[in-house]
Amino acid sequence: MDIQIKNRKLVTLVVCLIPLLWLFLDIAFGNLGSNPIQALHIRLGDWSLRFLCITLAVTPIQMMTRWRGMSDYRQMLGLYAFFYATLHLLAYLVVDNNLMWSIIGTDIIESPYIWFGVVAYLIVFALAITSPKWVMKSMGKSWKKLHRLIYVSSIAAIIHYFWQLKGNLAEPLLYSIIIFFLLLFRVLLWKTRHELKEMMIPKGYE
Ligand code: HEM
Repeated sequence: MDIQIKNRKLVTLVVCLIPLLWLFLDIAFGNLGSNPIQALHIRLGDWSLRFLCITLAVTPIQMMTRWRGMSDYRQMLGLYAFFYATLHLLAYLVVDNNLMWSIIGTDIIESPYIWFGVVAYLIVFALAITSPKWVMKSMGKSWKKLHRLIYVSSIAAIIHYFWQLKGNLAEPLLYSIIIFFLLLFRVLLWKTRHELKEMMIPKGYE
């Protein structure tokens, strides 16, 4: 691998850890407000959703800027969405509920918004474990189909966000608009490619 690409990847790897470092600093200096456990949980959930949006934005940015190298970072950004979602889940299980499985079980059954969080998480989990290049090669065409589920995961995460909301609508609304446009971009791209493909088929061979 080119040394410049390697260095840029290393910088990206470190930059993506800044939200976690920032969170540690806020914990150390007692800056998490009156309900630090909830704040910790919320911050990790927010960062997971942000990384999901950033990962989805890679292809549109790549197409608009014609910077092909952009895709080198997609896997890492997606893995960070999974990483922050895992910490968010662990905060819920360990910090929020002390691993008390009966309470966790009841909470999950009684809170439909958590079902959507679980769906979003299971998808990013599946995408993370199938992200290595050798898995991608061995899965062939089904890899692409599976990885399209990232859109389902982001929609589930948005529903999860709206459903548990206690106050301000502005932030989840902003994420919904971003995800809507990213999804629209992919649909338009797919439609254009499909139409072009059809045009290439000689008449009588359709
Ligand atoms: C990819 C997966 C997930 C994403 C992206 C995600 C994202 C989020 C976001 C953005 C919030 C709202 C934060 C805010 O109010 O600003 C949230 C809240 C919450 N999430 Fe998740 N979540 C995911 C998975 C899960 C899972 C698997 C669980 C539990 C099993 C869970 C439990 C919760 C709970 C309990 C809250 C409410 C926190 C509170 O207000 O105390 N989430 N999540």
